[in-house]
Amino acid sequence: MAAEVPDQVARSAAAAIHEVDTVALPGFMRQLDHAALLAMARTLGRNGLFRPGVRHRWDQIADRLRVAPRHRWILRRWLTALHNEGLLQCDETTGFVHDLRSVPRSEAADAAALADEAADALGYPAEMAQFFRTAMEQLPRLLRDEVAVQTLLFPDGELTTAEGAYRDNVINRYLNAAAVELLRAECRRARAPLRVLELGAGVGGTTVAVVPALAGHAVDYLFTDVSQFFLDAGRQRFGDRLRYGILDINAPAAAQPGSADVVLAANVLHNSVHIGHALARLQDLLVPGGLLVVIESCREHYQAMTSMQFLMSPREGEPQPGATDVRAGTDRIFLTRDEWLAELTAAGFAPLLDLPNPGHPLAALGQHIFAARTDELERP
Ligand SMILES: C[S@@+](CC[C@H](N)C(=O)[O-])C[C@H]1O[C@@H](n2cnc3c(N)ncnc32)[C@H](O)[C@@H]1O
Repeated sequence: MAAEVPDQVARSAAAAIHEVDTVALPGFMRQLDHAALLAMARTLGRNGLFRPGVRHRWDQIADRLRVAPRHRWILRRWLTALHNEGLLQCDETTGFVHDLRSVPRSEAADAAALADEAADALGYPAEMAQFFRTAMEQLPRLLRDEVAVQTLLFPDGELTTAEGAYRDNVINRYLNAAAVELLRAECRRARAPLRVLELGAGVGGTTVAVVPALAGHAVDYLFTDVSQFFLDAGRQRFGDRLRYGILDINAPAAAQPGSADVVLAANVLHNSVHIGHALARLQDLLVPGGLLVVIESCREHYQAMTSMQFLMSPREGEPQPGATDVRAGTDRIFLTRDEWLAELTAAGFAPLLDLPNPGHPLAALGQHIFAARTDELERP
């Protein structure tokens, strides 16, 4: 990558949201998170479970609330969050929790109304705000697996709500613009056609920004996902301009070694059971000197813990994302920025840039883009 490319990428990303007062964004994010935290507290406080002085182990709470086994990790994350935020007491030696703060219905409703306004200010469409709200209202049933979050996110199989999650909001406009600039630079640098492999392309929130922006360049674009549902939707939307294929980031030998000049992975790599193993497979897929572009959340938002994270529960009997890597034993889904940089380096990638910079107001939103390159030398 030419020396000026990282600056150009940063400029293009900033230009994509030039009209936004970024300084106000962390406050709006906190409003979303606050509403979610109160919704968690109300869900756990149902049926007098936390009468004063009564102590519980986490698994007793899970049993009382009939939390489905695959969602029990979410309950554990909630307990940690509520404790960290001072809404729940925890006995450090026994791990028993007690004295959950009682949250009146009116307080939760006020917070939810403010969250609607915050979602709007963060650039989420009304469908997405409605999704956050419905998910908060449905938490007991979501925990029991009586309602699947997919039915809330894709009502009647519609993708509009989810598209707003990954495309229309401020941070994704910023990150997608950065991804576009990186790929344009790669078109100028690499031999034609540029072979782009997108992983976990899903509703195409990044694809929809990248594909038109590369229209004047020779590109062979392989749109992949673990789910046929998204491949069918992608084919309807993008037609013959792209190729389509199933690819599971946790499965070995997913495609031909050295078959991609660029791997683009937006909001998918956190689904890896072992991030180091997944990155090693990407090393094999890429040509020497190939480019890896990763978009990821680097912090856990309470708002996601009451909505999107239900998508990340493994099916019964399957391992949890992160089960065997740096996240093992923590129930954490997302790696921190520092962990990403360390994992990329450990897997043999040379990090080229990551945005937003740690001091930028957008950094409080937690989502980042990383670009890293494989070694230029042929591997033995
Ligand atoms: C959070 S969505 C991101 C969608 C899209 N990249 C975007 O940003 O608009 C995650 C996507 O990863 C896919 N996914 C989940 N586990 C996966 C796996 N093991 N291998 C490949 N894709 C996976 C899901 O089907 C889903 O489409």
